[in-house]
Amino acid sequence: MKTEGTLLLRRSEVEQLLTLPECIDAVEEAFRMQGEGKVPPAGILGVKAPGGGLHIKAALLPHDRTYLVAKLNTNFPRNRTAVALPTIQGLILLCDGENGSPLAVLDSIDITIKRTAAASAVAAKYLARPNSSTAAICGCGQQAAAQLRALCAVLPLRKIYVFDLDQAAAQNFAIKLSNELELEIEPVRDLGPALQHSAVFVTCTTATEFFVRKEEVVPGTFIAAVGADDTHKQEIDPALMASAKVVADSLEQSCTIGDTHHAIAQGLMRKEDVYAELSEIVAGRKQGRSSDDEIIVFDSTGVAIEDAVAAVAVYEKAARARSGARFDFAA
Ligand SMILES: NC(=O)c1ccc[n+]([C@@H]2O[C@H](COP(=O)([O-])OP(=O)(O)OC[C@H]3O[C@@H](n4cnc5c(N)ncnc54)[C@H](O)[C@@H]3O)[C@@H](O)[C@H]2O)c1
Repeated sequence: MKTEGTLLLRRSEVEQLLTLPECIDAVEEAFRMQGEGKVPPAGILGVKAPGGGLHIKAALLPHDRTYLVAKLNTNFPRNRTAVALPTIQGLILLCDGENGSPLAVLDSIDITIKRTAAASAVAAKYLARPNSSTAAICGCGQQAAAQLRALCAVLPLRKIYVFDLDQAAAQNFAIKLSNELELEIEPVRDLGPALQHSAVFVTCTTATEFFVRKEEVVPGTFIAAVGADDTHKQEIDPALMASAKVVADSLEQSCTIGDTHHAIAQGLMRKEDVYAELSEIVAGRKQGRSSDDEIIVFDSTGVAIEDAVAAVAVYEKAARARSGARFDFAA
């Protein structure tokens, strides 16, 4: 049977086709479907390389039409300084879920950024105090701007503290985002005092040792712990993980590659101590925040269903608009 060929979409095309608000809605819906038991378990595979590695996250997405989606991302944290390339690069393959036909190949950079930020926003919507007006962001790389834009979509933020080991990165972030979002953004040299005033805290660094200490975090804080998405990465004090209410994007992944896994390895937590998966809260099966004093950590490791819904949204828009090039791999 002759097909139309596979749609090829480069980063700039993906960027134009997927807005952050659309991505937040799609990711929330994905978590709801998962919480309602409508999505089968995803597949994940990781391979280490000197200085980095590759992971594959794959999911079946029941939709108007069923899709099979696999994201293949490489992650090389020294890229930015060593070779002026992004830390994360990769591709997404989107196939027909009924006959396996390869429908599209998309650059993954923009989808990874937006779907990760969208997951933090969905978590913040259910787990942060709704009147949160202050936030701190640690790590001003690729993730940070989307994280802040996404949080602004769900919370009435006014004042933001930003910190990065690379002070210029924090300064540039503050200048760019304060103009764009009309917020007061203050680069800080010490995270501790900023945390005393922050209702929301996003960690999106490539750190391999925790830098957030339990004593520094005040009651009521919502933390989106985004950076630790592999066994060697860590951002949050295991003692803080053990004392906080922990919500995982995926229980299995958080307990094997997220900040939760370090607390478990130290004997401070058990898998059963994780309060919930985000999907259970979005689907209304478990309560989110139950008091203004709770410290809640969203342990974000990145789940395949987030990539799947974002890639499908891009593909369906592109197909309707007849944009992108087509390539017949099977010719
Ligand atoms: N949870 C998820 O779904 C998900 C998705 C995408 C990326 N990530 C992870 O998030 C992290 C950030 O990704 P990115 O693409 O923004 O990376 P990036 O390399 O573009 O930015 C990382 C920033 O963190 C800073 N940094 C590193 N260690 C720090 C420390 N101890 N304190 C303060 N700043 C520090 C760096 O200077 C850099 O500016 C990576 O570890 C990445 O793997 C997670």
